[in-house]
Amino acid sequence: MGSFNLTVVFLPLIIKLSSCSDHHTSVLKCIQTEREALLSFKEGLDRTDEYGWHPDDWVGEDCCQWDGVECNNKSGHVTKLFLKNWRLSGKISSSLIHLKYLNYLDFSGNNFTGIQIPQFFGMLENLMYLNLSYTYFSGEIPHLNNLSRLTHLDLSNSLTYAENLDWLSGLSSLKYLDMGHVDLSGVGANWLHVVNWLPSLVELYLDYCKLENLPTSLPSVNLTSLFVLDLSFNQFNSSIPQWLVNLTSLTTLDLHFNHFQDAIAFDFVNLRNLRDLYLSGNRYLTDLSQNNFCGTIDGFLGNASACLNKSLESLDLSYNNLLGKIPDSLGRLGSLRYLNLEYNSFWGSIPASIGSLSSLQDLDLSNNKMNGTIPESFGQLSKLVNLFLQENSWEGVITEAQLMNLTRLENVILKANTNHSLVFNVTYDWVPPFKLKNLELESCLCGPKFPIWLQVQSELTHVTLKNVGIIDTIPEEWFSIISSQIIRFDLSQNQIMGKLPHQLILPNVNFIDLSYNCFKGPIPLWFTNVTELYLKSNSFSGSIPSNIDDLMPRLRCLDLSENNLNGTIPLSIWKIKDLGGLYLQSNKLSGGLPDHWNESQPLWVVDIS
Ligand SMILES: *[C@@H]1O[C@H](CO)[C@@H](O)[C@H](O)[C@H]1NC(C)=O
Ligand SMILES: *[C@@H]1O[C@H](CO)[C@@H](O)[C@H](O)[C@H]1NC(C)=O
Ligand SMILES: *[C@@H]1O[C@H](CO)[C@@H](O)[C@H](O)[C@H]1NC(C)=O
Ligand SMILES: *[C@@H]1O[C@H](CO)[C@@H](O)[C@H](O)[C@H]1NC(C)=O
Ligand SMILES: *[C@@H]1O[C@H](CO)[C@@H](O)[C@H](O)[C@H]1NC(C)=O
Ligand SMILES: *[C@@H]1O[C@H](CO)[C@@H](O)[C@H](O)[C@H]1NC(C)=O
Ligand SMILES: *[C@@H]1O[C@H](CO)[C@@H](O)[C@H](O)[C@H]1NC(C)=O
Ligand SMILES: *[C@@H]1O[C@H](CO)[C@@H](O)[C@H](O)[C@H]1NC(C)=O
Ligand SMILES: *[C@@H]1O[C@H](CO)[C@@H](O)[C@H](O)[C@H]1NC(C)=O
Ligand SMILES: *[C@@H]1O[C@H](CO)[C@@H](O)[C@H](O)[C@H]1NC(C)=O
Ligand SMILES: *[C@@H]1O[C@H](CO)[C@@H](O)[C@H](O)[C@H]1NC(C)=O
Ligand SMILES: *[C@@H]1O[C@H](CO)[C@@H](O)[C@H](O)[C@H]1NC(C)=O
Repeated sequence: MGSFNLTVVFLPLIIKLSSCSDHHTSVLKCIQTEREALLSFKEGLDRTDEYGWHPDDWVGEDCCQWDGVECNNKSGHVTKLFLKNWRLSGKISSSLIHLKYLNYLDFSGNNFTGIQIPQFFGMLENLMYLNLSYTYFSGEIPHLNNLSRLTHLDLSNSLTYAENLDWLSGLSSLKYLDMGHVDLSGVGANWLHVVNWLPSLVELYLDYCKLENLPTSLPSVNLTSLFVLDLSFNQFNSSIPQWLVNLTSLTTLDLHFNHFQDAIAFDFVNLRNLRDLYLSGNRYLTDLSQNNFCGTIDGFLGNASACLNKSLESLDLSYNNLLGKIPDSLGRLGSLRYLNLEYNSFWGSIPASIGSLSSLQDLDLSNNKMNGTIPESFGQLSKLVNLFLQENSWEGVITEAQLMNLTRLENVILKANTNHSLVFNVTYDWVPPFKLKNLELESCLCGPKFPIWLQVQSELTHVTLKNVGIIDTIPEEWFSIISSQIIRFDLSQNQIMGKLPHQLILPNVNFIDLSYNCFKGPIPLWFTNVTELYLKSNSFSGSIPSNIDDLMPRLRCLDLSENNLNGTIPLSIWKIKDLGGLYLQSNKLSGGLPDHWNESQPLWVVDIS
């Protein structure tokens, strides 16, 4: 404290010697021309709303102390502008070209609707980092070929386009290029040759660029440092070109949602470092007669399991027309963490070899034609967190063996297409090692008793136990524990009996379906912000609570039909602001409708027959 570094005093610009109470250690003031440049830039911006950056924040002599500005602490030149998510809009003054030493410019997350990316950005020759993503700039991207020091260029998610990418060849230091969502439909086939001249490139993102042309030949592949190639959501309809196997460093290849022919036949296994392979959606969604990507995966998995067994962590083959049984060789992809095969036509059982995928965290086999069993070895997937098996025709039995070691399981969706052909045959009082957050079971058999393995799930926020053959009462303790956090609660189509807890607060729930059960007693007086409440086809009796508008003010749909309710329809129902569907038929209700409809209520169905 109180001692100053002498070298500072000899610098040409300055000198406000800080007092002992001054928090800033720097005694260097910013350079006047650069301060003025920043102030002109500020003048060009719109004055923003109360949430945005307040232009008055840039005050004081020393611009190096301003928010979002960083200077070189020896020379005093402004080197960085961090303006991410400042809600800036308006004009960008060309005064910024005076920031000759600027090497970092982050404009992302601001709203420059209606203006183009300024040409003069191409003159900020010291820039190493330029981020213009989510900026709503429009028009053609200017030629930035003078930015030979640029290592990171992010132009994604603006509203811009480019008709020519030749200027990219000047960016010889570029390691990271993201032009996702930039319209490149005008660049033809040449884009690849230009990109191929960027030998330092490590990550390339050209997703949603309306590209159609991926040349099948290249004289030589220079992109040997490329780790990440994302060409997803374009319109490539050739086969996958052979030169791709020369991208020997690739760890992530994302080709999903294109129209590649025979993609599964491509020789991915020469990409020995491949970690993430995304090939989903490579079929014509509009013309199912031209399914490019149909066929079995035996050959692919056979090769992959021999060559990529130590590297492959994510494999997404969803939304293709793949068929046949899932081959045993799957089990040799021992490093898989993520496997997505949803929306194909696989049938049969899950191969027993799946138990070898000891790193698997996410498994999605939903929407296939699986008509076999879930093997016992499933119980070895001790890292599994997310399990999606819905919309299949599963058969057989699930015992504690399949669940025993799934200590990390959180989200399970299992809806069978065939009624009760899959049976949970778990010892009644078995306590599983997992705490689920989201459980959706439909049309598999879990009853007749409400099993203990469900009753101990105290962290659930979404519960669906629909048509699962429960003939029992709701376990009171379980329900009172989860009621504080539950968001979706569906126990419909069982034979659940007894009365519901009469008074309860359900602060988070927005959907309750208890229809087609055997509940009796009065309609519960639950305080909730529920928007949909279905109690159809039970034996609820008594009258509709007269303060229903206070209890459930957010209701949009209320179905109390097919119960034993009597009394009158309370007037308060007509005060529920957003109520759109009201079903009261097949009860013993008396009294009439109000004389005047509440005109702001959007009622589209009222059935009180
Ligand atoms: C000056 O900047 C360098 C590099 O950013 C940093 O290591 C150093 O601590 C800074 N010195 C002062 C006095 O802030
Ligand atoms: C961006 O600004 C335009 C016009 O100033 C406005 O219409 C638009 O809603 C804004 N967009 C966002 C996401 O704030
Ligand atoms: C690039 O630099 C050259 C020479 O310094 C200059 O003539 C040209 O205008 C610059 N181009 C752009 C787009 O800034
Ligand atoms: C650019 O900014 C966006 C949004 O703030 C961010 O998600 C992205 O990672 C940034 N790009 C780079 C290369 O840092
Ligand atoms: C790309 O490779 C070719 C052939 O090896 C070579 O002539 C060319 O100079 C390389 N380009 C770059 C930018 O490295
Ligand atoms: C790909 O690599 C092989 C062998 O390493 C080489 O013979 C071939 O010329 C390369 N192809 C391209 C397009 O670079
Ligand atoms: C690929 O698309 C182009 C135009 O979009 C079309 O002319 C061509 O026939 C298509 N090729 C194949 C193999 O479908
Ligand atoms: C499962 O589906 C396949 C293909 O549709 C069929 O050939 C096979 O007989 C079915 N197996 C069983 C057990 O139903
Ligand atoms: C569960 O894990 C234990 C200990 O690791 C192991 O002995 C047992 O075989 C596993 N059970 C199943 C069904 O995989
Ligand atoms: C359920 O398990 C018990 C005892 O292990 C067995 O006796 C019974 O047959 C099984 N039921 C079904 C439907 O598999
Ligand atoms: C319903 O939502 C309002 C506003 O979000 C909140 O104040 C109120 O506590 C909620 N009611 C219940 C019963 O959770
Ligand atoms: C409704 O029914 C119960 C018996 O089920 C009866 O005690 C009560 O008086 C009825 N209420 C009305 C308003 O009819």
